[in-house]
Amino acid sequence: MKPWLLLLSLLYLAPPAWGVEFLVTGEFQGEIRPCGCSKAGERGGIERLSSYFKTKGPKGWLWLDLGNFAVEPTDQGELKNDLFYKLYRQHRLFAMLPGPREFAMGKRGIAKRRLPFLLTNHQGELAYTERIKHKEGWQFFGFLSPELLSLGVHKTDLLEGVGAFLARAKTLRSKEWRGVLLFRGNPKELELIQGSGLFEVILPANQAKSEETQQLEFELAQQKFFSPPLQGQGVLELNPESQGAGRVAWLGPQTPLDPTWAKDFAQYDKKVETLFLSSLASQAKLGDKRVYKGTGYCVNCHQAQGEAFEQSKHAHAFDSLEKAGRAHDPDCIVCHTQGYNKGGFLSTELTPNLVHLGCENCHGLAPEGHEKDLEYKKNRKPVTQLVCKGCHYGSHDPRFSFETAYPKIKH
Ligand code: HEC
Ligand code: HEC
Ligand code: HEC
Ligand code: HEC
Repeated sequence: MKPWLLLLSLLYLAPPAWGVEFLVTGEFQGEIRPCGCSKAGERGGIERLSSYFKTKGPKGWLWLDLGNFAVEPTDQGELKNDLFYKLYRQHRLFAMLPGPREFAMGKRGIAKRRLPFLLTNHQGELAYTERIKHKEGWQFFGFLSPELLSLGVHKTDLLEGVGAFLARAKTLRSKEWRGVLLFRGNPKELELIQGSGLFEVILPANQAKSEETQQLEFELAQQKFFSPPLQGQGVLELNPESQGAGRVAWLGPQTPLDPTWAKDFAQYDKKVETLFLSSLASQAKLGDKRVYKGTGYCVNCHQAQGEAFEQSKHAHAFDSLEKAGRAHDPDCIVCHTQGYNKGGFLSTELTPNLVHLGCENCHGLAPEGHEKDLEYKKNRKPVTQLVCKGCHYGSHDPRFSFETAYPKIKH
């Protein structure tokens, strides 16, 4: 057989192109990397996501993001956002539905970043694209429910409700192309939109408050929906050809960290340290107005409790940050010291009595003279598991159980 004929017949016999796989993320919520608090929570992060995309190869997929990656525009928040912008560009994000967090940046904040923001039910001057087409025959739309905006944070009159959105999508829609909707809203809106029949695939954002309650798969009006996990701990891989069937590729410890990001993170840590140290200068003036007294003060009278406490890991919690090289990161300090940002810990030098955890983390501030106050004993709030779960939650301690943990700290 002539080579060209072979080639031609091969082409003819080749199976129809599988099309394109959707890789869906969302809800990074500023989690640039896992905290390192527990092995079980060691998932996700920019470095793992980056190596995930590299092993996927350059073709055959589209990266879609359902928003809420950003954090508040504090100095440290902007450093995190910058890392995400870089990630999105590096791995060619195809479309992003702005979440309430991005919507709060306003038109100018959005335009500055030049990300492929997609929002169809927006009725102001357009800083967003209303529809994005892809050559394999897909057209993408975005819906962000106006009910998710808050007065004071957002311009609340810029988003249309379901009715106007559907009318707009109908006029924008090209007949021959199949529709995909990036969706963030409530079940009622989802049902209405699904009932319209305008979209072959709908991708709802994950709006759960915590990992414990997130639903990555659910059914509504006999239709299955898939959402990506919270905080970038995994990627939703979706084959849109088969009724949008999806599964989550978790980015656990077995996913390597992309070493090309090491420098960015080293720089990030350095800048966070600089910010922390410069904020101390202004806070130092408040040094004598601390409301937290520290463990030493309580142990003056509660010796037995003090001895038991010294045996617990709580009494050494700051050492873990020093070992991890994160002793200057407010993101970490908040749970590994006493009363950070609440009239407690400032720094190891300024408030040596508030390093590590202490009695007041769990008991709150014990009022001066409580030893003589019979009412205190009667009325004080006992330490329940809700207190523990203020720190032992989510990826910090996904397997926390009060029943097994309590005996270890009992005094
Ligand atoms: C001057 C001594 C003194 C200091 C300092 C002190 N306490 Fe007390 N505390 C007492 C005495 C005495 C009681 C009553 C003991 C009792 O009846 O069991 C008490 C009661 C308590 C109780 C209630 C115990 C119960 O049986 O319900 C708690 C909780 C407590 N203290 C926590 C603290 C904490 C936290 C600190 C540090 C911020 C602290 N105390 C500092 C002397 C002190
Ligand atoms: C919301 C509270 C919280 C925050 C914020 C937090 N941690 Fe933790 N951390 C914990 C808890 C709870 C544990 C104990 C987990 C366990 O026992 O499974 C822990 C444990 C650790 C440990 C393990 C200690 C050991 O004995 O193995 C390290 C290391 C650590 N944290 C580092 C960090 C770093 C770095 C940050 C900032 C990125 C951080 N933590 C932020 C709550 C927190
Ligand atoms: C990790 C949380 C935690 C820390 C830290 C902690 N406690 Fe407690 N403490 C508890 C719990 C839980 C109880 C039992 C429930 C209750 O009485 O509120 C308790 C009970 C107590 C009681 C009452 C004991 C009794 O006989 O009824 C005192 C007094 C007390 N703690 C003092 C202290 C002192 C002093 C420190 C610091 C050296 C301290 N605790 C640190 C969680 C904590
Ligand atoms: C202010 C945050 C905070 C609170 C509140 C808190 N913890 Fe912790 N806990 C931590 C941190 C941080 C660590 C890790 C310390 C370290 O660096 O090793 C830890 C570690 C522990 C450990 C040791 C982990 C192990 O398996 O050896 C136990 C047990 C524990 N906590 C139980 C409790 C219980 C029970 C409560 C509630 C009564 C509680 N904690 C409340 C932050 C907290």
